[in-house]
Amino acid sequence: MNTVIHSAVTETLLYHEQTKHHFHRYARSAGFLDWANQPNPFRFYEGVTAVRLPLLQKDPASEHLALYERRRNAFQDFTRETIGAFLELSLGLSAWKSIAGSTWALRMNPSSGNLHPTEAYLILPALPGVTASIFHYNSFLHALEPRAQVPETLWQQIKEHLRTDGFLVALTSIFWREAWKYGERAFRYCQHDVGHALAALSFSANLLGWKVTWLSAVSDEEIGRLLGFDRTQWPEFELEHPELLCFVHRNRTQRIPRDLPREIVSEFSGLEFQGTPNQLSEDHVDWEIISRVAEATAKPQSWEGAFAAAGAPGLPDRRRPFYAPTVRSGIPAAQIIRQRRSAVALDGVSSISKDQFCTMLDKTLPRETCAPFDLGLPVSCVHLLLFVHRVTGLEPGLYFLLRAERDLPALQQKCHRHFLWRPVDEALPLYLLQAGDFRSTAMSVSCRQSIAGDGAFSLGMIARFREELETAPYRYRHLFWETGMIGQVLYLEAEAQGVRATGIGCFFDDPVHELMGPPDNAFQSLYHFTVGGPREDARLVTRAAYHHLEASVR
Ligand SMILES: Cc1cc2nc3c(=O)[nH]c(=O)nc-3n(C[C@H](O)[C@H](O)[C@H](O)COP(=O)(O)O)c2cc1C
Repeated sequence: MNTVIHSAVTETLLYHEQTKHHFHRYARSAGFLDWANQPNPFRFYEGVTAVRLPLLQKDPASEHLALYERRRNAFQDFTRETIGAFLELSLGLSAWKSIAGSTWALRMNPSSGNLHPTEAYLILPALPGVTASIFHYNSFLHALEPRAQVPETLWQQIKEHLRTDGFLVALTSIFWREAWKYGERAFRYCQHDVGHALAALSFSANLLGWKVTWLSAVSDEEIGRLLGFDRTQWPEFELEHPELLCFVHRNRTQRIPRDLPREIVSEFSGLEFQGTPNQLSEDHVDWEIISRVAEATAKPQSWEGAFAAAGAPGLPDRRRPFYAPTVRSGIPAAQIIRQRRSAVALDGVSSISKDQFCTMLDKTLPRETCAPFDLGLPVSCVHLLLFVHRVTGLEPGLYFLLRAERDLPALQQKCHRHFLWRPVDEALPLYLLQAGDFRSTAMSVSCRQSIAGDGAFSLGMIARFREELETAPYRYRHLFWETGMIGQVLYLEAEAQGVRATGIGCFFDDPVHELMGPPDNAFQSLYHFTVGGPREDARLVTRAAYHHLEASVR
């Protein structure tokens, strides 16, 4: 390992250690909510004329499984309307909620603390009613804010290189939005949110017959150049950090190059950018360790192997049919996306069947031709440690879903000797580790949140960790993205099965590891989740997602 990589790995490991929650001490944060400086969850570019996108008058009619299976969705042309649908069903608003004088917007994609650090940018070719440009997506207005025009010849070069029609989409993070509430641990939550947003984009693209492919070779610096970030006047501490760049294209297109040539990227340096980002907070706290881990995990140019490369060893059979395809949901795909919510409380009584449970878990397995795990992230590294509470047909206990078979020997070697590793279903890599009532354990390791014990099941996402970081420190972000993507699948599957999920970013890290065996950092738990029957809060008032635009848009 060269010295630059070595010090980046050390910095990243230090960040991870320092931002663990412990039973006796939480990771560092302000410790109180400075409401006067709560960051605006919406980014606006001042000084530009936004291009309004139409809202869907009628959702795609596709059924539940069309979320995943590419072959079920016919290709729709790239137009202002379909780009609007793509964004509405992934990053658009889903509702407004209010209670006791306070009102907030929810979105199709979830976010830790509903703070929404993830921003999206599109680089579009010329379409009827749209000039080829770099745009920021403003979800409040459901509009594209133009930042710079892209000359026709430049788009031609991009298209020739990527070999087909389509457009580019980039995700970025504003760390301050999360750090305002969560302090040093915020960087982790931003990365989870990127994963959720990425999966949300992959699902909505799929419903339009499109596919999202991650351009794995592109560096963060190059993404910043494409988006004009080096020529943007950021309010102090509110800088946006490039996370990833994807190409959206027809779903059946074969091999897409995963890079952008230097000549193309450098042409973006000559474009004229307009617009000034709005200020999100008056005052800020500088969580310096976040800047350090951001730098340590910044992605240089590289070549990542496709995550679903044919013949990759140790992956589940990616072409096999879904588990119990009869356990289908009658809820249409777009409705599942629209109704996704986090449960604030679970009822502590509802159960689900083993078929429902396995159906949900099965969707989290990577498949070569299915959204969202076919967008080309590196090889899957995240497994599920499951606390099964109320699943009829399965005894309560601690279970393990192995999402990458190659990790089994290492995991068995690390884990407690008394774990059974007993397969419980021939169609799924699911193992019983230990029978028993894990409700209070699940709750206590999930920062004592009762939702972790009151559901049908909850889980910790266990990632192959140290080795991945040593391969490349920027893999730290990818591991969190993978957990966010798994989380997005669980959110949608819970809705499809008539229950509800909640992501749990707050958990006590090492106590989870101790549950598995003597802790070290070969594997780490990165994200928790819970699924069960929701207990609704009848006091909440709901309003339509875009009621605030109704007069002006439609
Ligand atoms: C990364 C992440 C971590 C989260 N952590 C928690 C948590 O620890 N406890 C909790 O009750 N909700 C948690 N949530 C749920 C969010 O609070 C929720 O997504 C947000 O309020 C928006 O609501 P919605 O999901 O209904 O759109 C988390 C969500 C995400 C995406």
